[in-house]
Amino acid sequence: MPAIETRELRKTYVSHKKAPGIAGGIKSLFSREKSYVDAVCGIDLKIEQGELVGFLGPNGAGKTTTLKMLSGILYPTSGYASVLGYTPSERKADMLRRISLVMGNKMQLWWDLPAWDSFIVLKEMYEVEESKFRRRVDKLIEALQLTDKVNTQVRKLSLGERMKCELVAALLHSPQIVFLDEPTIGLDVVSQKRIRDFLKELHDEDNCTILLTSHYMQDVQELCDRVVVIDHGRTIFEGTLDTLTQEFSDVRRIRLSFSAPIDANDLSRYGTIIGEVSDSAVIEVERANTASATGAMLQFLPVSDLAIEEIEVEEVIRKLFSQGR
Ligand SMILES: Nc1ncnc2c1ncn2[C@@H]1O[C@H](COP(=O)(O)OP(=O)(O)O)[C@@H](O)[C@H]1O
Ligand SMILES: [Mg+2]
Repeated sequence: MPAIETRELRKTYVSHKKAPGIAGGIKSLFSREKSYVDAVCGIDLKIEQGELVGFLGPNGAGKTTTLKMLSGILYPTSGYASVLGYTPSERKADMLRRISLVMGNKMQLWWDLPAWDSFIVLKEMYEVEESKFRRRVDKLIEALQLTDKVNTQVRKLSLGERMKCELVAALLHSPQIVFLDEPTIGLDVVSQKRIRDFLKELHDEDNCTILLTSHYMQDVQELCDRVVVIDHGRTIFEGTLDTLTQEFSDVRRIRLSFSAPIDANDLSRYGTIIGEVSDSAVIEVERANTASATGAMLQFLPVSDLAIEEIEVEEVIRKLFSQGR
């Protein structure tokens, strides 16, 4: 049984239309004209136990909505969802004890209390045994370098420290499935890296299943074996990052070094020059022409070194999302 499985999962948000102004507000109390947003339009997922999958897509693609349905916060409009064999919307206590949802832009810790107090409440809530709790919390706090922070009021912590405390809170009960919605958003690069490394360790040690959304390609590149890309509530790609770059970029980059100065005009006939031409240069060529362009340059230009590179994932994703699909 896969850890997470969905078929034709859909969510349409329904809200009541409101004409502008106070009169409109009053009118909307009486008229029941509705508006619909199809946030998730039939997503099929199959994620095996222990996988770490990146869930990508532009803003508004339906990622958060999907994660909320999977963790039982939102009721799907239609379709099938199974998480560890449970139907998430039933919110069975047994399921809730085995999953966790972390949202980078929404806190569950009490603002005015030290994080430690929240941890204790969560321990009771999840009925984590004292000795197990001790071991777990010590390990998490140490891994996230929070030892001298957990007794400080949460409101006084930096954003990165707060996020790390959120992670501890979300992981205290050793969930088998962790949904991470933008866990590094807005953080400084050092905190991002710490969290990334921590997630890697967590995944290795707990062998938990992780579904991660992030705007930072570095998170995805370093952590995810596989990605699912959605747009407008539909899956547009599923596979490895390498395959994503191959499928969605029709160009490749050739990095060249020259043993003698060359003229940019002599190079531009083989492809599009990226940046400056000096004793080295980078050009972009159509994927299908890579071999012929490479051959010709080796023959006609004083090439001393040459490397063919795929376009960066980040660029592929950016291009993908700027095509206005
Ligand atoms: N509570 C809501 N009511 C109405 N529309 C919503 C609500 N939440 C999200 N949406 C809409 O649903 C779509 C998907 O949103 P979301 O799941 O948050 O996307 P993502 O997380 O990929 O940015 C967007 O068009 C968004 O505006
Ligand atoms: Mg979101």
